[in-house]
Amino acid sequence: MIAEDEALQLVRKTSKYDHALVVATLMEKLAATLNENEQEWKLVGLLHDLDYDEVVNEMKRHGIVSAERLKGKLPEHCIHAIMVHDHRTGLTPKSRLDKALIAADTVASLIEKTETQIEKLEVDALRVKLENASLGQSWYKSNLMQVEEIGLRLEDFLHLCLDVLKTTKSTKNSNPRRY
Ligand SMILES: [Fe+2]
Ligand SMILES: [Fe+2]
Repeated sequence: MIAEDEALQLVRKTSKYDHALVVATLMEKLAATLNENEQEWKLVGLLHDLDYDEVVNEMKRHGIVSAERLKGKLPEHCIHAIMVHDHRTGLTPKSRLDKALIAADTVASLIEKTETQIEKLEVDALRVKLENASLGQSWYKSNLMQVEEIGLRLEDFLHLCLDVLKTTKSTKNSNPRRY
């Protein structure tokens, strides 16, 4: 399996670096909560948008190009999660890992689009933002509802994400290796 440092090097060159760090952090904590493999889930979060810059004008290939590139570097079930994480491919998520990545990716995108500082963002406000975002793009809600299929209530998932990101941000400067 690819080493974390090597994965970081790959992602650091992309425009999705900061986003990838957030999704990796969320995925690691989700794995801990769900008794899954923390290292694998973290790497999946880190690498899920590896091909983004390359396929930005052809999003139906998003994740599929990464999957090809990561063959042999990650277990097959991890590559599958990366391959199916974007609805525009038309591929179907199946495993807990597939669904967790979709939900973590979506909540990260939602938070990135808000202007409120993360320290001041609360679950109720995030829910309102989710409802508003879903009016134009219904996949926001359907993506996030995947968490209920892996044993988490949406409310609990949003709490977990905000708690993780608030904690991480406050410790980021004191330990740059943490994300
Ligand atoms: Fe993506
Ligand atoms: Fe993403």
